[in-house]
Amino acid sequence: MAFSNHFFFLFALIVLIISGIKGDDTDLIRLECGKNFTNNDNLQANINNTIFDLVTKTSAYGFANTSHGSGSDTVYGIADCRGDVSDQICSACIANASQQIQTTCWNSAEARIWYPYCFLRYNTSNFIGQADMNVVGLWYSSDNMMNPKVFKSTLTELLVVLWFTAANAENRKFGWGQIENHNLKNSNDEAVIIYGMAQCTCDLNNLACSMCLANAFNKTESKCGEADTGCYLILKSCAVRYEINPFLFLDATTPPETTRSITFGDI
Ligand SMILES: *[C@@H]1O[C@H](CO)[C@@H](O)[C@H](O)[C@H]1NC(C)=O
Ligand SMILES: *[C@@H]1O[C@H](CO)[C@@H](O)[C@H](O)[C@H]1NC(C)=O
Ligand SMILES: *[C@@H]1O[C@H](CO)[C@@H](O)[C@H](O)[C@H]1NC(C)=O
Ligand SMILES: *[C@@H]1O[C@H](CO)[C@@H](O)[C@H](O)[C@H]1NC(C)=O
Ligand SMILES: *[C@@H]1O[C@H](CO)[C@@H](O)[C@H](O)[C@H]1NC(C)=O
Ligand SMILES: *[C@@H]1O[C@H](CO)[C@@H](O)[C@H](O)[C@H]1NC(C)=O
Repeated sequence: MAFSNHFFFLFALIVLIISGIKGDDTDLIRLECGKNFTNNDNLQANINNTIFDLVTKTSAYGFANTSHGSGSDTVYGIADCRGDVSDQICSACIANASQQIQTTCWNSAEARIWYPYCFLRYNTSNFIGQADMNVVGLWYSSDNMMNPKVFKSTLTELLVVLWFTAANAENRKFGWGQIENHNLKNSNDEAVIIYGMAQCTCDLNNLACSMCLANAFNKTESKCGEADTGCYLILKSCAVRYEINPFLFLDATTPPETTRSITFGDI
């Protein structure tokens, strides 16, 4: 399966990840450092405490929301692991993220970092709860389907479930699913299953998450079009991904509910 990149040439590594070369799943996607500061031990200590807290809590729960300090030196932070990854992958990813962010953004009052399996952010501005819908990256793949219209309608059915499940999830704002339709076949007349996930950062409430995902699904529709059978879009506060190869780690979790031909869960 060949994935090609719409406009983010720097993220060519993701092409390999989606193609199933799992060894590259730990590579950095993007790092942003902003607002340099100098000689402010108080702020530095708040940043240190925020990052420490995020690493500890995320390793234990898979997500975290915290703040440290007061006044203009207050630091707000959140971190998340992708909803399906194991505790081990999550802790390794978040430890790496914290190390990377402290090394590269050592004098920044705000920073954000994205890995395939986790995300970490801190800022002296209180961003908690605000959906940031700017694009981080978009990747897609195309495989021939016997009937692209059936693919499209089956996919839409899955996306609606993912949207609802992620937006209404209790804590992790993660939804995953797979869908089979007996009319859905590839060009070799083989049955196809579509796998998908949607996730918002854990600071968003249901409404903000729902808005972010509406925006994301809209973008996948215009950017990944009819011909693409795989699409991975990361916005700054949410992400959506679907493809016809299984890419989620769901073996370790409780079995999903099965409703009609749709299988879905929110972990
Ligand atoms: C940590 O990040 C570096 C740089 O992106 C990457 O090469 C490495 O594989 C990562 N390790 C883990 C355990 O995530
Ligand atoms: C912050 O400082 C570093 C080095 O001191 C510099 O490379 C970077 O461009 C600065 N970033 C901003 C946002 O000013
Ligand atoms: C913050 O953490 C860095 C790296 O761990 C350390 O070098 C620095 O001394 C700490 N600063 C404060 C004020 O705690
Ligand atoms: C920090 O928050 C401000 C205000 O919401 C925003 O403009 C900026 O992009 C944020 N920076 C990071 C790295 O999150
Ligand atoms: C995040 O933490 C702040 C305080 O640190 C709290 O006011 C807020 O309700 C929390 N939000 C979520 C979504 O957990
Ligand atoms: C989807 O995007 C189109 C333009 O590309 C816009 O007109 C429409 O309002 C958007 N819909 C939603 C729900 O964001």
